[in-house]
Parts: sequence; structure tokens; C-alpha cells
Amino acid sequence: MILSSDLSNIRNPGARIFLVTGATGAIGKAIARQLAATADSEVVLVCRDPIKAEQTVTEIVDSTGNTAVRFELADLSRYQDIRRLAQRWTGPLHVLINNAACTPRTRLETPEGIEMQFATNVLGYFRLIDEFTAILKASAPARIVNVASYWAGSLDLKDLEFIHRSYDNDQAYRQSKQADRMLSIAFAEKLKPYHVAVNACHPGDVNSTLSNNLGFGGHETPDQGAETPVWLATQPIGQHATGKYFEHLHETVCTYGRDRRTVNALYEICANYSNGGSNVE
Ligand SMILES: NC(=O)c1ccc[n+]([C@@H]2O[C@H](COP(=O)([O-])OP(=O)(O)OC[C@H]3O[C@@H](n4cnc5c(N)ncnc54)[C@H](OP(=O)(O)O)[C@@H]3O)[C@@H](O)[C@H]2O)c1
Repeated sequence: MILSSDLSNIRNPGARIFLVTGATGAIGKAIARQLAATADSEVVLVCRDPIKAEQTVTEIVDSTGNTAVRFELADLSRYQDIRRLAQRWTGPLHVLINNAACTPRTRLETPEGIEMQFATNVLGYFRLIDEFTAILKASAPARIVNVASYWAGSLDLKDLEFIHRSYDNDQAYRQSKQADRMLSIAFAEKLKPYHVAVNACHPGDVNSTLSNNLGFGGHETPDQGAETPVWLATQPIGQHATGKYFEHLHETVCTYGRDRRTVNALYEICANYSNGGSNVE
């Protein structure tokens, strides 16, 4: 089975290498396209559907003229897929953009039996950072951009998978985005000594499968939604700042970071879901 498209013949040793998840979606595709349009960039799209992946790569290459765009296949709700993606990665990674997320209307579980939003939107972000930590440290200065949301809240550490609460996709989504913001703070502290910056942002309100499932349309274009993630991925602010939260190109106070006990507890829970620990320390 083909897991990735080949780029070996066009690799530019001076390229800045970006990994973008959810790049077949509304905001992720715009992020990937904007990054591909920057000079000396190599952009790797992490997708789960090979046909959409091929089409998206072709679209971005055609619209930007940058041929250093390729895909890797991984289902980000599944730990083994993320591990294998990191294991087959060769060369540096300068910027990891966690953007893939889902909002199923009914409670779904992964084949490992984990509630789908928690598995994808939270563990997916955690595991990708964790598994790419050694590569990011070796590529430093490097950065991580976690696409989160202002639409956040309802975190319940005792019921992260909606086993005791009745499943509500909006509540599960808000919990997952609160968790993304809190995990950004935890990872920022751990990775700061290695010159790997970690920031979170709200992208914008964009019409997409994800937002439609929550009953929203969206008044911003995908390109507008991509603006803040791309700014953090490419501009000095995304390296100088770490552990911060941004909306519309501005740092915004994130009160979730004040609750250190919950930040640390969430981090430990996610680490224990993955491999009984974390690769970061
Ligand atoms: N849209 C908004 O108004 C809004 C507002 C605030 C924050 N956000 C955030 O922005 C990000 C992107 O959202 P969007 O609106 O662009 O959503 P979208 O158009 O629905 O795209 C979601 C992307 O995630 C991918 N994905 C979902 N589950 C996956 C899995 N298990 N493995 C691999 N890929 C998976 C999808 O792949 P497929 O194409 O294969 O389905 C798709 O590429 C999310 O993190 C979201 O929380 C969005």
C-alpha cells in the first residue's frame, strides 16, 4: 500500500519543511497553499484519504508552482498510524501544524475504542508532537502551531470520552479545543530549552464539514482562516513567543493556562493513553 508520495528527486537541502494535518479540509488546504507559496518551502500534507490527498497536492502545486509539495497518509485518530508516520520520516521538520479535527454528530469510537473527537482532536495533536519531538529538536529552531479555537470549554478530566456524560458533539468539540490550548502550554514549557516554540490559535469562522456539524456556517474565507496559523508558522512571532494563544494576528489572554494542575493532569492523562509516558522529557 502506498503511504506517501515521493519527493526524493526534488528535495532542496535549504528548504524550510512544514507538516500540515487536515490539509484536505477547508482551513488546512488554505494553510498548506499559503505555505507552499512562500519561498524555499517544502510542504507535507498529512491526509487519510489517498484520492483527496493526490487531488490536493495537484491543486496546490498547480496554483503555487511549488513542486515541493507531497502527502503522507495517516489516520490521526490512531496511535500506530502516527508512530509509523514519525518512524518513516526522513530529514528535518521545522514547523508542525496540528489542524486536523472532527465533530461527528453521534458518539463514535476508534478501532482502539477511544471516543473519536478526543482521539483525533486531542490525542492526535498530543501524539504527533510527542512522536516528532526528537525530529523537531534536531531541526531547531523549530515550531509547532496548534490550531485550536475561541470556541472552547467544558473540559472534564474525569470524563474526557463522554462515557458518563451524554455525548453532545458541540460540548465534546469545545472540550477538545480547550485541551489543545492547555496542551500547547504544557508542551511549550517542556520544549522551550530545545528552541522548539509551541503556540495555539483560533483560525477564523469558516464554512466547513467541521463547522457545519456543529450547526455553524462561517463568515470568513478559508484563506482568512489560514492567516493566523500561517503567520505563526512563518513570522518571527511564532518563534519568539511560546505557550501563547492568538486570535486574528493578536496574542489573546488564555485563562485556561492559569489552572496549572489541570494542565499538568491533562498532559499526564494523554501521555498514559499513548505509551505509558511521553517522549518529550
Ligand atoms: N471552521 C471553523 O469555523 C473553525 C473555527 C475554529 C477552529 N477551527 C479549527 O480549524 C481546524 C480545521 O477545521 P476546518 O473547519 O478546516 O475543518 P474541515 O474542513 O472539516 O477539515 C478537517 C480536516 O481534518 C481531517 N481529519 C479529520 N479526522 C481525521 C483523522 N482521523 N485523520 C486524519 N485527518 C483527519 C479531515 O480529513 P478528510 O478530508 O479526510 O475528512 C480534513 O482534512 C480544526 O482544528 C478546527 O477545530 C475551525
